[in-house]
Amino acid sequence: MILAANWKMNLGVGESDKLARAIVRTVKSSRAHERSIILCPSFSALDRVGRVLRNTPLTLGAQDVFFESSGAYTGEVSPGELVELGCRFVIVGHSERRVLLGETDAMVNKKLHAAIAAGLTPILCVGEPLAVRRAGHQALYVQKQVTSALVGLRRPRILVAYEPIWAIGTGRADTPASAAAMSRVIRKAAGNVPVLYGGSVKPDNARAYLTTRGIHGALVGGASQKIETFRALLAAVA
Ligand code: PGA
Repeated sequence: MILAANWKMNLGVGESDKLARAIVRTVKSSRAHERSIILCPSFSALDRVGRVLRNTPLTLGAQDVFFESSGAYTGEVSPGELVELGCRFVIVGHSERRVLLGETDAMVNKKLHAAIAAGLTPILCVGEPLAVRRAGHQALYVQKQVTSALVGLRRPRILVAYEPIWAIGTGRADTPASAAAMSRVIRKAAGNVPVLYGGSVKPDNARAYLTTRGIHGALVGGASQKIETFRALLAAVA
């Protein structure tokens, strides 16, 4: 069972440090240490949170990565830098980047190649917009996203997060049965990879996903950004 926390741009460096410390304390005092917990703070907080997680069972992930290893790319962060900061995972292709910042399937593909080459495990995000879901074309849409993301990669060591765009931050989560059906689509296209569900996972619905066959964990935004809800999430899936 994998629980990945996407803090987005919601926490400053000090806040991220404080939340990471509180999570470590909670995990140490509960049975939760058996679970794989991945914290993904913003770039600026990676160093501080990485120090907090050192010698704990929790792992560090980044929210994005660039596809070149060095060069004149102002503002970008290379896979090697993330490794240096202690990251083992990196979120790639989150819909907020695809929709707001124009990240394309081709860029996502390059990022996966670069991250894997550096030894990072990517968490590839896929998921359809509402209009596609309404038309009932989500399987084909997501299958295409996965196939184009994985061009040139044979049996890649990745996780895939199925995150329907209409469910992210809306409080309107997909049903576990529908998420499991999408997991089958993803595994048909990507091979035997772990599939996480993301999109309005909360303490009161987390257990339903994590006990559903074919769903191997959750990628959680909002509910992972406060210690009270993070604790409740852990308690719900214990
Ligand atoms: P949410 O975000 O849990 O706040 O819906 C999930 C995500 O964007 O990864």
